[in-house]
Amino acid sequence: MDIAAIAALAPVIPVLTVERRETAVPLARALVKGGLPILEVTLRTEAALDALKAIAAEVPGAVVGAGTVLDPAQLDQVQQAGARFAVSPGCTRELALAARSSGLPFLPGVQTVSEAMLLAEQGFRLLKFFPADAAGGLTWLKAVGAPLADLRFCPTGGITPETAPAYLALPNVACVGGSWVAPRGAVATGDWQSVEQLAATASTLKRR
Ligand code: 3PG
Repeated sequence: MDIAAIAALAPVIPVLTVERRETAVPLARALVKGGLPILEVTLRTEAALDALKAIAAEVPGAVVGAGTVLDPAQLDQVQQAGARFAVSPGCTRELALAARSSGLPFLPGVQTVSEAMLLAEQGFRLLKFFPADAAGGLTWLKAVGAPLADLRFCPTGGITPETAPAYLALPNVACVGGSWVAPRGAVATGDWQSVEQLAATASTLKRR
């Protein structure tokens, strides 16, 4: 699957920051059961790589990838851990080239039109718009729709259950990313029922 095919699997990509490896598998199972199979595990905790490995090995319905990938060396690490895709908050030329040669589906982050144009030159057509809410949100996405007509976006950062429908209604939005489907409190207490319910609601969000 390329990154567009992965993004087509669900309207919302849960962005997961896993503090304890033991929570990774039940968390992933609850999200998949709720209808959100694409999972982004951010490389922001010591447990992240183990969490990624565990989900890849033990949750067959999940399509798990790595988020917060900042440099080419991390691409190798996450690929070895079983990541099916990688996401970055921004991008450098080196990272884009390494992602292309790794063959790992890659969702690079952008915040400006020039950054989007540089990645389009390198063949990337689906980009993460980050941090979406802080960087112009719906207004930015609407404004770039005509000039960047070939590009689609996965806005992430500050998106809520209340704002997600308006993002998903835009023709240049493929899906959205967000952490709201895996609240810290629910994960800490093992309240997988709540996580599944949040995922079930998010999975019914309509895309244009
Ligand atoms: C992040 O930076 O953790 C992701 O972009 C998710 O952002 P959110 O917590 O605002 O959904």
